[in-house]
Amino acid sequence: MTTHTRRLTITDLAAMKHQQKITALTAYSTPIARLIDPLMDFILVGDSTAMVAYGRRSTLAMGLEETIAHTRAVVDCTQHACVIADMPFGSYQESFAQALRNCARVLAETGCDAVKLESNQALAPTVAFLVERGIPVMAHIGLMPQFVNLMGGYKAQGLTETSATTIKQDAQANLAAGAFSLLLEGVAEPVARYISEHSAVPCIGIGASPACDGQILVTEDLLGLGGPNTPRFVKQYADVAAVIRAGCERYANDVRQGEFPQPQHCYGC
Ligand code: KIV
Repeated sequence: MTTHTRRLTITDLAAMKHQQKITALTAYSTPIARLIDPLMDFILVGDSTAMVAYGRRSTLAMGLEETIAHTRAVVDCTQHACVIADMPFGSYQESFAQALRNCARVLAETGCDAVKLESNQALAPTVAFLVERGIPVMAHIGLMPQFVNLMGGYKAQGLTETSATTIKQDAQANLAAGAFSLLLEGVAEPVARYISEHSAVPCIGIGASPACDGQILVTEDLLGLGGPNTPRFVKQYADVAAVIRAGCERYANDVRQGEFPQPQHCYGC
């Protein structure tokens, strides 16, 4: 494994393809970002912030100012992992100019390394426009949560021939547009394998099989903080909810019984 004394860049991620699996998780806040920074190759400040941190119904409810605030918090407390910001719904679909203006704001005001866009063939020209103007773009294909209302729910993609063809075409269009990486969400294994094997850039999977060049999950999901609708593709690696509950219960009991605070927690006594 390569060790770096500086923050990883998108070219470091590119060099990892065929050499080592790329590790990634989401972070929206300082405590989580600090903990995962030394362990991850990149951190995504996902638009899942809207659901996970704010309890909203979908990622469509993420705002640009919120994206900037959360991404800046993650960049400011990390030094190892490449940081990628997820462009929120409505911040890049209107026109090339709108996409450039908002992506440039995110890069300039947060110091992050790249942006991620949910991008099918129709949006690939936007990706090309951004890349040609110095904005590194990761293209998110397959299950695109910002299209949830069109898809009629969060459904695995690439299970029929038509869907498999569409995803391969989306991949091809975004590769031709200059995306530095593809993120494949909820994609059937044969399709994910085909795209990973036929792409020169790193393909990162979430619910898209081990055939991908790396994996990403929502951190809260793998820690057991994800709630009842955690997707099937998540593996829970820890039960942090139980740890939080036990700690908070002990605190509440101590307060109720006058056991906390003790003299060492007080001033002037
Ligand atoms: O918003 C997000 O967290 C994402 C991941 C699910 C990849 O896009």
